[in-house]
Amino acid sequence: VRILVLHGPNLNLLGSREPAVYGHTTLVDIHQAMESRAQAAGVQIESFQSNHEGELIDRVQSARTEGIEFIIINPAGYTHTSIALRDALAAVAIPFIEVHLSNIHGREAFRHHSHFSDLAIGVICGLGAQGYELALEAVLTRLGRS
Ligand code: DQA
Repeated sequence: VRILVLHGPNLNLLGSREPAVYGHTTLVDIHQAMESRAQAAGVQIESFQSNHEGELIDRVQSARTEGIEFIIINPAGYTHTSIALRDALAAVAIPFIEVHLSNIHGREAFRHHSHFSDLAIGVICGLGAQGYELALEAVLTRLGRS
C-alpha cells in the first residue's frame, strides 16, 4: 500500500449523519471512488476508519514500517482535540493532506482551529466528498502518477 486514507470518529455514519452538513455520500462510496482512481493510476490505496483515538494512532505508527508514502486524513472531531494524533503524524513524518467534508471555518468557533493544519501539505474543506478525490489527485501528482 502506498496511500493510506484515515477517517476519524463518527465518519462510519456518513450518509445518514446530519446529511445537511455532511451530505448523502457514504464512506463506502468515498472509498470506491478513490479505489478506482488509484487503480487507474496503478497505485495501492487503503482506508481505515476508527472511533478510537488510540487505534488511529496505532495505524499511523504502523504506516511508517509499512512504507506508506502519503496519508489523506479526516481526523473528524479529533481535529480540534487530539494532540496525540497530531504527534503521531509528526513522529512518522509521512506527508499528509487534511480533508473535511464541511467548511469548518463557517461553523462553530470550536471547529475553526485544527491541530493538524500547520503540519499538513495542504487542507481541503467544505467541498464534501469531492474533497477526498481532489486530495487523491494532489497525492497522485506528488507521486508522479497523475
Ligand atoms: C469534520 C468536521 C469536524 O468538525 C467534525 O467534528 C467531524 C467532521 C468534517 O469532515 O467536516 O466529525 O471533520
